[in-house]
Formats: sequence, C-alpha cells, structure tokens
Amino acid sequence: MTSESISKIILSGEHSVVYGYPAIAIPVKKCKSFVSIKENINENINVIKAPQISKEIYFDLEKEKSGINPLEKTIRNFLSTYKLKNIPNMIFDIYSDIPIASGMGSGASISTSIIKELSCFFDIKVTKEEIYELVMETEKIYHGNPSGIDPMVIVHEKPIFYIKNKTLDFININKNLFVVIIDTGIRSSTKKVVDYVREQLNLYPNKYNKLLSDLGIISSKIKDLINNCSNEEFFDLINENHKLLKELGISNNEIEELIEKVKECGADAIKISGAGKGGVIITFVTPDKIEKYLNNLQEKNLKLVEAISLNLL
Ligand code: PMV
Repeated sequence: MTSESISKIILSGEHSVVYGYPAIAIPVKKCKSFVSIKENINENINVIKAPQISKEIYFDLEKEKSGINPLEKTIRNFLSTYKLKNIPNMIFDIYSDIPIASGMGSGASISTSIIKELSCFFDIKVTKEEIYELVMETEKIYHGNPSGIDPMVIVHEKPIFYIKNKTLDFININKNLFVVIIDTGIRSSTKKVVDYVREQLNLYPNKYNKLLSDLGIISSKIKDLINNCSNEEFFDLINENHKLLKELGISNNEIEELIEKVKECGADAIKISGAGKGGVIITFVTPDKIEKYLNNLQEKNLKLVEAISLNLL
C-alpha cells in the first residue's frame, strides 16, 4: 500500500493571506510525496524512515516525549483522533520529489500522505475536511500561525481562491500559458520569514498594511481576470505582485540575480512563490516560447522543478 499527495505553488497572496487577505494557490500534480506503512514484525518499536532527509525516527506509542518530530506528531494525532488502541508496531517509508523548504508545501504534502495511508492501513473513512484539520495541527509546528492555504490546496487538488477562515472557492484556470517553476537552491524556513514580516508590520504598520492590502487586491484581480485578460495584462499583475513581495522584504540579492538570468532566458513574468528568502520562483511564458525557454534555462544550468500548463487547470 502506498498513499500519495501533490504539492502546490502560490500564484498570488503569500504572506498577505496570513492577515486575512485573499490568495490563489494552484496544485502541482507532478511533484508528489509518497508514504507506505507496513507492520514492523521484527522489532517492538515504530519507525519512520525518510532517507532523503537522512531521518530515521524510532518511537514507542506508549511513551510521548516533548518536542517530538512533526511527522511523529501527525501519526500520534491521527491515532488519538480516531481513538485507535492495540496498534501493531509500524514502519513508515517516506519518499518525496517535492523540494524541501522551498514554498511548494512539502511538509503539508507529507502530512497528508501519512494521514491518507493511516486511514487505509486502519480502514477508516476520513473526509477531506478531517484530513485538512489534522494537517493543520502539524502545520502549526512547522509554521507557527499558518493561514491554511497549503493544506487546503493539497487536500483538494484544485486551484483555490482562499481567504483564511472565510472563503474557499474552487476556480477554473484556462489560460494558454506555461508556468515554469525554478528552484533558487536556497532553503528557507517559512516560520522565520513569516515572523520577519510580522516584525516589520509591527515596526512599520502603515507601509506594511498597505503592501499586504495591495497584494490582496492583486489576488482578487487575478481571480476575476485570469481567464479573460490578455497575456500582457496577466504578466503585469504577476510582475507587480513580485515588486510588492520585494518591498515586503522577502527577496534578496541572490533571488534578484536569478530573476535577471531567467528574464534573459525569455520569461515574460516572474515572481517568488511561497514564503520567500529562497525556495522557488515561478515564471510564465507563452506556449510558442516554451521549448526555447526551457533550453535556455538548461544552458544556464538553472534548476527547473516543473513546467505546468495553465490550460484547464
Ligand atoms: O509554505 P510556504 O513557504 O508556501 O508558505 C505559505 C505561505 C505563507 O503565506 C508565507 C504562509 C501561510 O501560512 O500562508
């Protein structure tokens, strides 16, 4: 048995979504996490094996220590939520092709896969809403005060227009464009960057409230216009979006240098996606340019994560 979950990118509204402004996230179905569970018949202990991050975690369900790993926490939360008793020792094998700490929701995706796989293993029907609630518990460990956008898009696997605790609209995106995801190669902690923005908001409330509100306005405009506006209008909204994220202080010299290189390769619009200060950037090109663009990226040794068509997403 293996369960899998997708990853995501944020088209608009990262950070501002934490403060109640709208955001848009889209699923990335080609990058996934995978979890399989089997009974541990050789040892009297549970094991989580995540070789890609060199992690092997051993734990006894009877003994809960403080400060436990988020993966173990997800498992314990599931077992206690569904009041499961007399549980066999298990081995959890975790594999993921989602870049870690890169704004693609790797943590939320792995938690989702763990919950899906536990529900298969114990033959319990779990709704998407229940999965979301459980993943949110783990997200709080990773993020502190998450908006919930990552688990929402990952659990539902559809593009969403999202306002924290208020609105979840599934949107159809039908735009004849490619979004090409590029890894900056810099790992970035979402919690640290979210904390940084909060500190800046406290120091400079006028400036930051305006920036966050402007980001929210762009998200609403993108939702209303995406299928009807010209490519140029859409590119302007994305580039304006990045400009605001830069003013928010979540870019840096390395990212801006990378953006210049990506522009030379032929990208029409570029923005940071996710918490920033590293992680991935998302870039947009028209279908007639995609082949040349991807070749140019390769020639410059830029790290392509995935290219997705925005057609019928
Ligand atoms: O997981 P990331 O890096 O994509 O961050 C999620 C987006 C933030 O708005 C920065 C945080 C949040 O909780 O929404």
